[in-house]
Amino acid sequence: MFKINENYLKLRGSYLFSTIAKKVAAYQEAHPDKELIRLGIGDVTLPLAPAVIDSLHKAVDEMASAETFHGYAPDLGYEFLRKAIADNDYKARGVEIALDEIFVSDGAKSDSGNIGDIFSQDNKIAVCDPVYPVYVDTNVMAGRTGTFLEDEEKWSNVIYMPCTAENNFVPELPKETPDIIYLCYPNNPTGSTITKAQLQEWVDYANKVKAVIIYDAAYEAYISEEDVPHTIYECEGAKTCAIELRSFSKNAGFTGTRLGFTVIPKELKQGDVMLNSLWARRHGTKFNGAPYIIQRAGEAVYSEAGKKQTAEQVAYYMNNAKTIREGLSEAGYKVSGGVNAPYVWLQVPEGMTSWEFFDYLLENANVVGTPGSGFGPSGEGYFRLTGFGTYENTVKAIERIKALNK
Ligand code: MLT
Repeated sequence: MFKINENYLKLRGSYLFSTIAKKVAAYQEAHPDKELIRLGIGDVTLPLAPAVIDSLHKAVDEMASAETFHGYAPDLGYEFLRKAIADNDYKARGVEIALDEIFVSDGAKSDSGNIGDIFSQDNKIAVCDPVYPVYVDTNVMAGRTGTFLEDEEKWSNVIYMPCTAENNFVPELPKETPDIIYLCYPNNPTGSTITKAQLQEWVDYANKVKAVIIYDAAYEAYISEEDVPHTIYECEGAKTCAIELRSFSKNAGFTGTRLGFTVIPKELKQGDVMLNSLWARRHGTKFNGAPYIIQRAGEAVYSEAGKKQTAEQVAYYMNNAKTIREGLSEAGYKVSGGVNAPYVWLQVPEGMTSWEFFDYLLENANVVGTPGSGFGPSGEGYFRLTGFGTYENTVKAIERIKALNK
């Protein structure tokens, strides 16, 4: 008789963004006349940049003739893309990353979940609280998190590192020693970021306790301030303790086209074993590569035109974030984020929970956001709005929220 992976039964309800989508669909069905503005899930709204579209068209045409057709992609991804990544994302910042340390994939969400495959079940993870739910849920699936403590809304075998206004949303080093540390900066969901000196402390700590940092830098393109690291490898010693996850979703609008990559330096070892080799083995066995046409589209992001056009898209979303930040401040909300990240994190009015505020905004302003508590217990009392909507809708949403105070 087959047996299921019972860890799945421990998962809490459905994935956060699926729960929200269901709630919103039910509201829309009951109120078909209402025009909802969706600033919940961090999904982009601008079309792919012209340089990316041109490259896609060309690649599609190549697939139409036997001479230029491409079948399976190389395990690690096409060299043209890995070279563009190594040169632009790393070398340009003074970091040397070899081509065989870059693994092209179908996105950072999959990689952040799949990376757990190369680690024993017997590892203790530490996560920021609030946190991108994928890190925790995929560790629940792997059986690493223990049991769910209902009263604390926490997993018994997870180290939670609270990130609240009190510590400027940057976690303190944990008292209990973790084996795997998840960090995401610029941060989803709080929209905050970390300075290079603060990240260096984490790198030094991880090297000292022999932990690995899984560093999710999906929002790197949104950094606007100096002294904010664009890659963890800007920190000394990071190559012996850190894996970096990157995405084309947020910097170039690939949420629907799917492309990302993971960097695992060869110096990152447990004894004699390189994590790079384990991930290469996993990648080669379980993944058949991102499509050729999409990797060509990714390459175009690094062309001169692609860089310019995607930078304009990022600026457009950041202008939305600014509109949200400033508008909500004027309306009396305490807000943070939205300066180096497309997310604005606000404190909900006193006396309301995050989910109550979600319902309140949905019903009274027809605006969809994301309740902070959905990202972890320390997110209670907070709420996330994204800058990824259209400018027109963003302005309208803020006007509606402001009007609630009148
Ligand atoms: C979010 O809303 O947090 C993001 O869309 C999640 C993701 O990128 O998968």
